[in-house]
Amino acid sequence: MERTLCIIKPDAVRNKNIGNIVAMIQEAGFKILGLKQITISQAVAGEFYAVHKERPFYGELVSFMSSGPIVPIALEKANAVADWRALIGATDPAEAAEGTVRKRYATSKGENAVHGSDSVENGRIEVGFFFAESELV
Ligand code: CMP
Repeated sequence: MERTLCIIKPDAVRNKNIGNIVAMIQEAGFKILGLKQITISQAVAGEFYAVHKERPFYGELVSFMSSGPIVPIALEKANAVADWRALIGATDPAEAAEGTVRKRYATSKGENAVHGSDSVENGRIEVGFFFAESELV
């Protein structure tokens, strides 16, 4: 079984889309191992997105991700990483396919409703970033 991390980002929480996104996750057959609502500091957001440190949008990304509550969700399923990325759609909602989370709920490339891990290895690492093993059921 594969693990991947979903984060419902501050824009989707503000727009009251937590329930809609969780419904899409469950209808697609993912098992929810852990779910919580938290607010993170700029330092924690910066650490999570450290791989993007040199990118021009890093500062904007870190400010946005610490601008309000987020909902990290640990997901499990066969092929979870690729299947979750397919369900969320392209980074830019203008390019996201019909029926994807970002097509429905994202507003821009920066404020794009959800995060998904980009590899099997990062799926495990990112789930561990937000959840202790004892919090996963
Ligand atoms: P995410 O899947 O969380 O991983 C990295 C994030 O960087 C991405 O979603 C976007 O929110 C953000 N991002 C990527 N490209 C841009 C961009 N050109 N401008 C602003 N934010 C971006």
